[in-house]
Amino acid sequence: MTPAEIVAALVAPEGRRDPYPLYELLREHGPVVPVRPGLTVAVGYAEINRALRDNRLRVQDAAGYDHIYPAWRSHSSLRGYTDSMLYRNPPGHTQTRRLVSSGFTPARVAGMQVSVERMVHRLLDRLDDLGAGGTPVDYVAEFASRLPIAVISALIGVAENDQKWFRQVASDLTIALEGITNVKRLGIADRAMDELAGYFGELIDDRRRHPADDMLTALVRAHDDGTRLSHDELVGNLMLLLTAGFETTSFLLGHGLRLAFEHPGLAARLRDEPGFATAYVEEVLRFEAPVQATSRWAEAATDISGIPVPGGTKVVLMLAAGNRDPSRFPDPARFDPDRPDVQPLSFGAGPHFCLGAPLSRMEARIALPLLLRRFPALAAAEPPDHRDRWVGRGLRRFLITVS
Ligand code: HEM
Repeated sequence: MTPAEIVAALVAPEGRRDPYPLYELLREHGPVVPVRPGLTVAVGYAEINRALRDNRLRVQDAAGYDHIYPAWRSHSSLRGYTDSMLYRNPPGHTQTRRLVSSGFTPARVAGMQVSVERMVHRLLDRLDDLGAGGTPVDYVAEFASRLPIAVISALIGVAENDQKWFRQVASDLTIALEGITNVKRLGIADRAMDELAGYFGELIDDRRRHPADDMLTALVRAHDDGTRLSHDELVGNLMLLLTAGFETTSFLLGHGLRLAFEHPGLAARLRDEPGFATAYVEEVLRFEAPVQATSRWAEAATDISGIPVPGGTKVVLMLAAGNRDPSRFPDPARFDPDRPDVQPLSFGAGPHFCLGAPLSRMEARIALPLLLRRFPALAAAEPPDHRDRWVGRGLRRFLITVS
């Protein structure tokens, strides 16, 4: 197969179901593969790692959208994302990220440990009720997608009553995370963005009048402290925090449980061995990256590890392929939490390295052992149903029995 045929197969149903053999076919062409004029892909661990740290390769920002889709400003969801740090390049990115990080500190995340445990126990109680008498329960709908929203809502400072609505809005907004690949569906994301902007506007006013000890108050201060973070940037970044960690973390929790069922010995260790969850979660992240790929633009001619990339090229960095690079991970298709020095590419690298990595790791490290301990007879009621997407790889539905 030519590289162009392999890339076409990746986004077709077969590739969306199991992209891993296709990554290996691409690897036969080298760690960085020119696919056609204007498109290059990277599948090597070292090359992806380097490309993510290379400021000559830029994320799709407002100027980039002007170039490829001049009508993009008519979509409030795209405007919202381009106001966030994920769609900014240095120097603007550096400042925005610093300001948002000042509210989303490691200490604030670490301080959430006990409340995350409490949220997990509450969701497990719910699973217990729903699954009484052996009734199959959808693990994705009732647990894996609920926990991330509950956690990020608590972190931002969103009231519990609003979480159901928040879940729907977040899910609609993730359509726009795929940029203009699906322009027809962007209307759904736009409506969600408009509603969310109104909601956040009220919440921001509320914190201005009644400061609280939460991230939102810290971000409102960063905004009010002069004009360093505009209102739109504040809303755009709040929207990013809500959506970037929602499906991704639910995918991590989904893969984590599926792999535990496939490896009963490891499930027993998760249940019984304190601290094992740390290595287990890293290996889940390596083995099944929830975000399979990200992309950058080379405006001017450049290179990745000496391999030339012409100006005007989109570079797709296949994080999941890098995670299975045999020159970095021996026997990469084997799921082995005992492998040393994992450091998967699943959270990216360099200036845009995932701000929520510590939070999602914490959620999975707490949730998986508690789930297995609480329900010793936990079992799959039917095989998991995978989402039909390539980039966002996760489960759509996973029926389990808890008793
Ligand atoms: C397993 C869960 C997660 C995965 C796999 C994941 C993956 C990623 C990846 C790959 C990037 C870098 C994208 C790029 O460089 O193009 C990223 C960035 C980001 N993530 Fe996550 N993420 C997860 C959870 C979260 C959570 C829980 C939050 C927040 C609550 C979050 C917030 C962010 C933010 C704000 C950025 C942008 C950072 C920047 O542009 O400087 N993520 N994430």
